[in-house]
Amino acid sequence: MKMTPELTRSLVQALNQKIMCPTPVWLMRQAGRYLPEYRALRAKAGDFWTMCTTPELAAEVTLQPLRRFDLDAAIVFSDILTIPAALGQAVRIEDGIGPRLAEFPCVDRLENDPSRRQNALRPVYDALRIVRAALSPEKTLIGFAGAPWTLATYMLGGNGTPDERKMRAKASPDLQELLILLTDAVATHLASQIRAGADVVQLFDSWAGELRDDEFEAFVIRPTSSAMTTLRRQVADARVIGFPRGATPEQYRRYVQATAVNGISLHTEADIGNAAREFSGSVTLQGNLDPVVLVKGGDALNVAIDAILSATRDLPFIFNLGHGVVPETPPEHVDQLVRRVHQMSAP
Ligand code: CP3
Repeated sequence: MKMTPELTRSLVQALNQKIMCPTPVWLMRQAGRYLPEYRALRAKAGDFWTMCTTPELAAEVTLQPLRRFDLDAAIVFSDILTIPAALGQAVRIEDGIGPRLAEFPCVDRLENDPSRRQNALRPVYDALRIVRAALSPEKTLIGFAGAPWTLATYMLGGNGTPDERKMRAKASPDLQELLILLTDAVATHLASQIRAGADVVQLFDSWAGELRDDEFEAFVIRPTSSAMTTLRRQVADARVIGFPRGATPEQYRRYVQATAVNGISLHTEADIGNAAREFSGSVTLQGNLDPVVLVKGGDALNVAIDAILSATRDLPFIFNLGHGVVPETPPEHVDQLVRRVHQMSAP
């Protein structure tokens, strides 16, 4: 029987609950400002959003880290805020500040024509097709979206700290209706990315932390499980990694139980030994090296890598950080990390 290319991809295999040796590794924000070639291309493009919406530029940036390092996966260069933009709420990313969204127009005024939304997101799908054609067949291609709750905090929360945004989102009379609309938009965006060549998709719920259990249920669990159902109606075998960053151990447990994700990404603060014992056999784990240790490098980095590998030795596992690569990271440390992970987990 001929192997489909997908089955040669170790990260896909890990999400199919296989223990892979060597352990597959990729890093959140593996393309970004810590790479001089990223900074050069961004200077030429003029701004971040132009890079996200020009498929050739997005594809080039996606491939940059794979030219330098033996990473097992590429993640398409885009942003979670492409969905609010496609819904008609303008987005700007300001240097040194972060995202700034135009004022929320109210749910009825958002774009509700599916083909116009699809058109606005087309650069992401085109970038995925360009990357897949250029990527070695054994490398996994990852797509992603922000989860409904995290997107709602940006759309309803206005400017200010994450806590202020969360509070305003919770207090908004539009929250429930917006979550329903976002659930559909997120599921469709993930399905379209898979159709354009993504093997795996990751759902970022970056502001899932510090919610009471009943809020976690209403804002994180319910929209996520419903998005998963809609996604799998469109793509039956969709492979999904969920990342409810900041969730408590009990909330992570509930997330695994209720959402039917194939993998979960653990934030830096999570105890990976406990998670390994708890989730063994039910879901693939991903994570959770501290990005600050990656900035340090040296022996501290090796020791931290080895500890994570030894805690997850007998499980399906994907090596990653607990949060994104920070701009101060020396690129040589990423090389050290990828080599060490592969070397220490070799058969
Ligand atoms: O992981 C990757 O390499 C893929 C690309 C990617 C970006 N953003 C590129 C980006 C991914 C997966 C994201 C997800 C994203 N975007 C999240 C979820 C993950 C997380 O960080 O919690 C969130 C909350 C956003 C929203 C967003 N976009 C923020 C808060 C910022 C500013 C952060 C910063 O570092 O300045 C952005 C802009 C952004 N998205 C940058 C990159 C590389 C920096 C843009 C630049 O200045 O060049």
